[in-house]
Amino acid sequence: MARDKQDIDRGVLEPGAAMDEKTFDLTLRPRLLDEYIGQTKHRANLRVFIEAARRRGEPLDHVLFCGPPGLGKTTLAHIIANELGVTLHATSGPAIDHKGTLAALLTKLGPRDVLFIDEIHRLTPIVEENLYPAIEEFEIDIIAGDGPHAASYKLPLSPFTLVGATTRTGLLTSPLLSRFGVTIRLDYYPPEDLVQIVRRSASLLCVPVDDDGAFEIARRARGTPRIANRLLRRVRDFAEVEANGRISLQLARHALARLEVDEAGFDEMDRRILRAIIEKFGGGPVGVETIAAAVSEPRDTIEDVYEPYLLQGGYLQRTPRGRVATRRAYEHLGAPFDEGLQRRLF
Ligand code: ADE
Repeated sequence: MARDKQDIDRGVLEPGAAMDEKTFDLTLRPRLLDEYIGQTKHRANLRVFIEAARRRGEPLDHVLFCGPPGLGKTTLAHIIANELGVTLHATSGPAIDHKGTLAALLTKLGPRDVLFIDEIHRLTPIVEENLYPAIEEFEIDIIAGDGPHAASYKLPLSPFTLVGATTRTGLLTSPLLSRFGVTIRLDYYPPEDLVQIVRRSASLLCVPVDDDGAFEIARRARGTPRIANRLLRRVRDFAEVEANGRISLQLARHALARLEVDEAGFDEMDRRILRAIIEKFGGGPVGVETIAAAVSEPRDTIEDVYEPYLLQGGYLQRTPRGRVATRRAYEHLGAPFDEGLQRRLF
């Protein structure tokens, strides 16, 4: 198939390998700032910081990306390394379980390399403390021997750039937060940007897509490129199996209905959350822990993945006493809205 051939040529897919979602994301991931769509202001600033560091022959200052999953934090880390012409070393907060693991990672870094730590808010306090001298002075404290003969000495590191990613800056300690020279908060993408991403991905995958078919997928992708690409992949399955392979508006609508992605782009879990607040808790206010228990989903997933989009779309409100479903949420679910009750609550 053309798609597989292309991926094998690009070194992304082993011959004969199945194309899972991760491989699919890797295939479509832009490699340079020029290929990246959306987040225009952040992209322009990053271009300046990268160029300035390159001209001075210095490592780029440490960068923190924050925002909900799927908006491009990892992609941008890879782009930074590619643009700087250095190696990216990727790890995650939970994977660095010990200060020895951190030391092993740090001592492997070459000059101006990028160390990418995903979920950086999940570093343990000890590992975090050991990271400070590494990012400030490019050295780490090593303790040799133990007992009365233990000696501490400083091991110099290559100057490097730490790129951290987190879903919420509020989860980071302030000493760590203050050590990043650049903090970039990624926003949800407007449909005009997502439609370009869908078109680019469809073209890389050799999937024919009509403009209005691409727009339908973009419009229902919850402002998130990863979701847009996932929907494209699923809609393409319907196009190939139940139609002529082309993604038209009609085919996109049919496929998205079968996938139970509704007009607002909500999936089953978004609707379960809103329904739980409205039907079980009178529209709120209700605590996030209670919502999590009602829909059997971890609290973190509700807060990191689902809630931000419901809040920004105006379906949910956050109050000191908990979450409240708005009139918009009632209307979306076709539930009767009691204005008097809402007024009494606020
Ligand atoms: N694929 C996923 N995110 C993308 C982006 N922002 N630009 C281009 N292609 C993408």
